[in-house]
Order: sequence, then structure tokens, then C-alpha cells
Amino acid sequence: MTPTRFAISRDKLPALVQAMPKAELHMHIEGSLEPELIFALAQRNGVALSYPSVEALRAAYAFTDLQSFLDIYYAGASVLLKEQDFHDMAWAYLLKAKADNVVHTEMFFDPQTHTDRGVPFEVVIKGLKSACDRAKTELGVSASLIMCFLRHLSEEAAFKTLEEALPFRQHFIGVGLDSSERGHPPEKFARVFAKCKELGLHLVAHAGEEGPPAYIISALDVLNVERIDHGVRCVEDPALVQRLARQGTALTVCPLSNIKLCVFKKMEDHNLKTLLQHGLKATVNSDDPAYFGGYMNQNFLATFADLDLDADDAYTLARNSFEASFVDAQTKAGWIAQLDATFARFA
Ligand code: ADE
Ligand code: ZN
Repeated sequence: MTPTRFAISRDKLPALVQAMPKAELHMHIEGSLEPELIFALAQRNGVALSYPSVEALRAAYAFTDLQSFLDIYYAGASVLLKEQDFHDMAWAYLLKAKADNVVHTEMFFDPQTHTDRGVPFEVVIKGLKSACDRAKTELGVSASLIMCFLRHLSEEAAFKTLEEALPFRQHFIGVGLDSSERGHPPEKFARVFAKCKELGLHLVAHAGEEGPPAYIISALDVLNVERIDHGVRCVEDPALVQRLARQGTALTVCPLSNIKLCVFKKMEDHNLKTLLQHGLKATVNSDDPAYFGGYMNQNFLATFADLDLDADDAYTLARNSFEASFVDAQTKAGWIAQLDATFARFA
């Protein structure tokens, strides 16, 4: 057990969570499209939606598993056609990140969701990148992009996407693997990830959200990923838990997502506290905040309320988010110093 370091009472936790600087390492930018923006973009672009109103769309957000969510999530993304649409979507998220004191975010995007509808890769990445640049200058928020391959598609399709992305190599820092996990093991993408490693890209993959611990092991051993997205099912394999703890592999955990997608029945059953007790480098993230009921601080607050987490856990989670981020050591140290100063003010 980690010794208690901060004598900060529980009633101060909401203010502490708000005030502490933090990094977000697992969010899909297409999952930040709020129903209001979906309807506004549909109207702007003349796209027909199968829901009559914002309220009707929001009412459809009752998911039973990952696939039931993905079906609606891909339909929502159909309103994105122009560079400005991608910019507006990312900017709306970055304003929310700023409000939650997220000082650094590594945003996933799914190019195949757009290129398969005829939207050029260039349109997607330029719109997103201009929002990232604007966040730096106007908000002081550092934002970078991680390109995800859709795992329900083929490795060949992933290679094609990588080829389209290469002229924009300087606009993204890494690649990830998302979409339907069951039946699509990491090893399906072994060659494309090997190529991305050669290109010097950072590597991450969703594993152990709905899929078994074996998928986490193959993400590590076959894909050579640096972080595991979700990874909550690692607890089913004690040897894997020991390995993740020993290696200091970060898990980008998404509590509200896990409840909405029925990975856990209710927040009291979530294993975030257990992961921390095992010494795992867990972080808190919002995944698809517009669909799962909350951005970063709402994820922290919901988790803290139901899992008996305290100020020490808040510190560990925020510190982990910086340590696991893909920035240089000096930048990490600067943010950790800001985190320390925040906790010193509250103590
Ligand atoms: N794409 C968007 N959100 C996802 C999630 N939680 N798991 C897998 N793919 C996703
Ligand atoms: Zn995700």
C-alpha cells in the first residue's frame, strides 16, 4: 500500500479534482460530437438523420455493449464532411478540456470512418490539426493526434490508410486500434503496427475492454504497444497484472464508458481502485464523452464518489496521466511541478 501523503479531507475532493492539472490520453474526437452539434452540422451539410430531434437522439443512447454504441457513433459521424466540421468538433471538445483543467490531450481520430464515405484524409486531418494549433495559442492547452485503425476492417485497409496519412506524418504522434474488439485480436494488425514502429510512431491499442486478457498480452508482445487502452479485464490474469505493474505499462481507463457499455454493471463494481491497489499505472479518461455522460472531471467525480477514492488516488491518477503521456521529460516535469503546487495549496 502507498502511504498517505496528503491530509486533504474528502469534502475538498470536488474542488481538488477541478483544480488539478491533468492529461487526457484516451478520447475519440468523434465521440465528443454532442447531439446539438450533430444536428447543427446535419443542417449545415444537408445530411438526413434518422432521429427527428436532439432529444430523440439522446434518448437512443441506451447501450447494451460496445457494438450497440458503435452503430450509433458511426451514424453520428456521418454529418462530418468539410474541414471546418472537423475543426468545429475538435474545438468544442478542447473548450471542455480547458474547462476541466486538462492541460494536455492526446486525441484519437478514426480516418476510415470518413474516408470510406468519400471524405478525403486531408480534410479530416487538416480540420483537426488546426483546432489543436488553435488550442495551444488561444487556450494554452497542448493537443496532439493519434490515428486509429478500425479493427473490424482488414489489415490491408489499415495499410491503405497509413499510406494516405504519410504526407501528413508531422500532424500526428502515433497510431491506435479501436472499434469492435471481440473477434478482432491485435495480431490481425501485426504487420501494419511493425511498419508504424519503423516510422517512429507511438503505438497504443484498445485491449481488454470487452476482449480477454490474451488480447492485452498480444497487444504488448505482437504489436509492441506502449500503453493499453482500457485494459480493465487484465485482473482476470494475475500473472498479467504482475507484468503490467512491473513494466509500468499505463492503462487508459474510462469509467463512465465502462458503465454505459455494461463492462461493469454499476460504478460501485468498477475495478479502478483495485487496479491502483495492484500498483498499476491507471489513468482516468472520458473515451466518448458526448455519448457516455461526461467529460474528464465528471469521470473523476463519478469514480471518486462510488469507489471510496481519496486525494492520494487523485494525485496518483493525475501524475500517471503525465508520466504516461507522449511528451518529453522536461514538459512532463513541468506539469508534475504544477500538480505538486496544486496539492500543496489544498493540504
Ligand atoms: N471507438 C470509440 N469508442 C470506442 C471504444 N470504447 N472501444 C472501441 N472502439 C471505440
Ligand atoms: Zn476508446
